[in-house]
Amino acid sequence: MKSWIDHLKVYEPGKPIEEVARELGFNDLDSIIKVASNENEWGPSPKAIEAMQKNIAEMHRYPDGGSFYLRHHLAQHLQVQSDQILFGNGSNELIVFLTHLFLEPGKSLVMAEQAFAVYALATKLYQGELIKVPMQAYTHDLDAMLDAITPDTKLIALVNPNNPTGTAVDPEALIQFVRSVPKHVMVIIDEAYIEIMPKHLRGDSLSFIREGIENVIVLRTFSKGYGLAGLRIGYGVANQKLIERLNRVRQPFNVNAMAQVAAMAAIDDAEYLEKTSQLTQQGCQFLINELEKIGFETVPSAANFVLVKTGEGRRWFEDLQKEKVIVRPLDGYGLPDHIRITVGTLKQNQRTIEAIRFLQQKR
Ligand SMILES: Cc1ncc(COP(=O)(O)O)c(C=O)c1O
Repeated sequence: MKSWIDHLKVYEPGKPIEEVARELGFNDLDSIIKVASNENEWGPSPKAIEAMQKNIAEMHRYPDGGSFYLRHHLAQHLQVQSDQILFGNGSNELIVFLTHLFLEPGKSLVMAEQAFAVYALATKLYQGELIKVPMQAYTHDLDAMLDAITPDTKLIALVNPNNPTGTAVDPEALIQFVRSVPKHVMVIIDEAYIEIMPKHLRGDSLSFIREGIENVIVLRTFSKGYGLAGLRIGYGVANQKLIERLNRVRQPFNVNAMAQVAAMAAIDDAEYLEKTSQLTQQGCQFLINELEKIGFETVPSAANFVLVKTGEGRRWFEDLQKEKVIVRPLDGYGLPDHIRITVGTLKQNQRTIEAIRFLQQKR
């Protein structure tokens, strides 16, 4: 076996409800709240559910490997060309494809120190060099990221809004940043949370692709705003040349048929998207207000989660689990004093706050 594989770390996902129940001996799964993986707590769009139900009997067929209908439908929705889109088994898979395409020993990826962990894992998978840039007030330091680029840099990842900090960069600053990145570097703009983001903070990063800029790819997903995380479907939008190359490294049927059916219907459910993103933004503000009343520092969030400085994050994670609330510890991100809480329904948010208050009083 390749010896360097032994040094790779396994991604630590949010703990599943069933696992916590098994470990702590809870019988009633419904009483456990998972606010650890930035899922959409309002569930999939009713239109997506209906479309999936209608198509169950077709699941003996392989999926359309090129996602033809979905690709054309999405292209129309986003006002880009259909050959500028590639789907992945979650946007996670597209991150791996990009590192597969661009990285090897001696070539580097630049990212913020506390940005989405899969960029670091995928870089190591192809033995690339990781250049991590400190953040400023939990936000991407765009000038420092530009300064970190070397002649051997191949990829630069900008996660906007960023996971796990929730911060977004100014849309104008993003445009300047993209224009300043040297052409030998591919800019990945990861917009996993774009549909949830307050509208005034959203830029129009797809305009780079429409303009024909070749060193940008925008990554998005159906896992967050659209509530389809279990189906594993995300997409990248980029210049045709890059999409054509990415197509060469994917498996023939990397996106399953049910995911294609559900995504197709979800795109048309603007009402659901609007409603759940409004509720998420309200829930986010509720969590921030309540956490600050308790006396914790929070970080303003443009996504569906809140970064909270509780001190001893791992201990809070473990104690909250015993109260049947699963949050995310962040020591793996170099934030041992923080936890990340996903915005849930009002009831879930209230339960989470009650549990935190209860534990805080006991300490
Ligand atoms: C910033 C960011 N990018 C990408 C992903 C991957 O999402 P998925 O593979 O579900 O599309 C996530 C998941 O949490 C994320 O937070």
